Order: sequence, then structure tokens, then C-alpha cells
Amino acid sequence: MESTKRRRMISTEPVEEDSVAEESLRPKLLKDYIGQEKIRKKIKIYIDAAKKRGESLDHVLLYGPPGLGKTTLAGIIANEMGVHIKITSGPAIEKPGDIAAILNNLQAGDILFIDEIHRLNRQVEEVLYPAMEDFAIDIVIGKGASSKSIRLELPRFTLIGATTRAGMLSAPLRDRFGVVDRLEYYNPAELTRIVKRSAKVLNVDIEDDAAEAIARRSRGTPRLANRLLKRVRDFAEVKYDGRVNTEVTEFALKLLNIDDYGLDPIDRQILEAMIDKFSGGPVGIETIAISIGEDPATVEDVYEPYLIQTGFIKRTPRGREVTDLAYTHLGLR
Ligand code: ADE
Repeated sequence: MESTKRRRMISTEPVEEDSVAEESLRPKLLKDYIGQEKIRKKIKIYIDAAKKRGESLDHVLLYGPPGLGKTTLAGIIANEMGVHIKITSGPAIEKPGDIAAILNNLQAGDILFIDEIHRLNRQVEEVLYPAMEDFAIDIVIGKGASSKSIRLELPRFTLIGATTRAGMLSAPLRDRFGVVDRLEYYNPAELTRIVKRSAKVLNVDIEDDAAEAIARRSRGTPRLANRLLKRVRDFAEVKYDGRVNTEVTEFALKLLNIDDYGLDPIDRQILEAMIDKFSGGPVGIETIAISIGEDPATVEDVYEPYLIQTGFIKRTPRGREVTDLAYTHLGLR
């Protein structure tokens, strides 16, 4: 249990040690945001239109695998709109009173960002419906026969919800978002630009080839690219002269056990378990997760999407199957 918890922290959320640096690496304006071309263009139009009308932005739902920049994008939208942003998460809002207090403290135009919005509980969600639709909440005062409900008007705010699983959102909640967009994995060229930008922010001297090598092995994910950059920088400072070149990058990646496709030991464990224990599949995601002692939600949200995207696993109606590429990559063919 303990190890599952710890891994989940590492995989889905910024690690404490990294969070301050991660914050400074986040672009603040749309012009500095690299990649996600389609979303960027659309968001720019929505922002310009809302500003022109002097209105708040419609509610936005961003979904996709962790680490692709949902929180970053929310922060950028707030900066571009010139409004405050209040950041919270689904599991952190426990009671209807919690969300009522948060909503009541917003000012006109403000953004409320709820990460992991699929983990909101039912009662909290029900407060959100009228808040999103009519900018009002109904508060019940008293108990039993003498109780009465009063309506509290709210300022026009924008809710930005983020989730790794759009499918787990209830239909009434999903329907109340005017904008629903999916973030995609970044291609190596975009990730290379992100690594170079981050190196500049962190004052790290990096060679082009090394930036490309880090980008290639970051699973299409800026959070991982930035984390790798920082680890490689450590090696460069301690073992070399501080400059990040391909030699120190390869050395660090080898020690970190990250292979040419960016797969880490858990990715490879997943593939090996599927091959050794389940003859390559088809096998269910729960079964795979349990067989390697990993949390099924983490395997499904964090590991599987990239393994599917790169063609190591495919989904079939009867479960997951490994592909020929997986056998070849693991040296089994
Ligand atoms: N840092 C993390 N994500 C980024 C992005 N999409 N663009 C620029 N810098 C980033």
C-alpha cells in the first residue's frame, strides 16, 4: 500500500522538491507556451472575444494525461484575462460548504481551477450546477420543517476543470462546460524547444543534441522533460563541468534506467508482466496492475496512454495486448 501511494505521488503530482522550480518553468503568457497548437489558437480567440465583449470566459474543461500543461494553461488564461485564479482540486473540496465558501470569495471574472475534477463528490457537484449555469447557489438554513433555502448570487466567474479522465465526469457536469479540449502528447521538436527554454530559465548551458536526447525520452510530456533536465543537470554539475552535452545525458539516462523510448522500469515491468504472465494478452488493466503491485488507476492514467500512443500496447474488446514492437524492444524477438 505504502509503495503504491508513493508511486502515485511521483507519477501524477509534482514532487515537493521539484514544485518550486516547476512553478518557475511554467510559461506565464500564451506567446511563451509551446505546442498544443490547436488548443492555443482556440483559447486565444476565446480570450480575445471575451475581452472584447468585457465578459468572463466560458467554463473550460481540459483533459488528457498528466503533465501535459493543464494547470499551466489555466494560469496563462488567468494572466491573459487579467484576473485572479484560485487553484484547488476535486479531493480537496470535501463538503458543499467548502465549495460554497470558495465560490463566495471569487470576484467578477475570476477563475476557479479544479484539478482532478472527476474526483468531486456528488453533493459538491450539485452545488456547482447552479453556480456554473446561473451564477447562484442555494443555501439551506435551519433543519427540518423550519428550514428554508435562500439563493446567494455569485459574481460571473470561470470554472476551469482538469481531468485525466473525461469519461469519469458525470454527464450533467460535463454538459455545463462551454469549451472542452483534450491536450495531446508533445512531439519531439516541441519538447526540444521546451527543454531549451527551461534550460535558459534555469541558467543551464545545454547542447542541441542533448536537448533533443532529453526530449526524445520524456514520453511526450513537458513535466517529465523538465524533471529529466534537472536530473541531468545534477550529473553535469557533479561529474562534469556543468555543461549538459550528450555524453552526460546518456550517462544520466542510463543510471536513471530510462531507455531509448523513454520507458522507465515500471513501463517495462508492465510489458514484461503481460508477456510472461499472460502470454501477451488480452488481459485486463486491473489484472496487469495487480500483477506488478501497482495501483490500477495509475497504470491506466499514467502508464498505459503512452504505451498505447507509442504502439507497445493495443486495446482490444477483450483487453490489452502487447504488440510486436514490445517484443522487439524488449529483445524477445
Ligand atoms: N514548460 C512546461 N510546459 C511548457 C509549454 N507547453 N511551453 C513552454 N514551456 C513549458
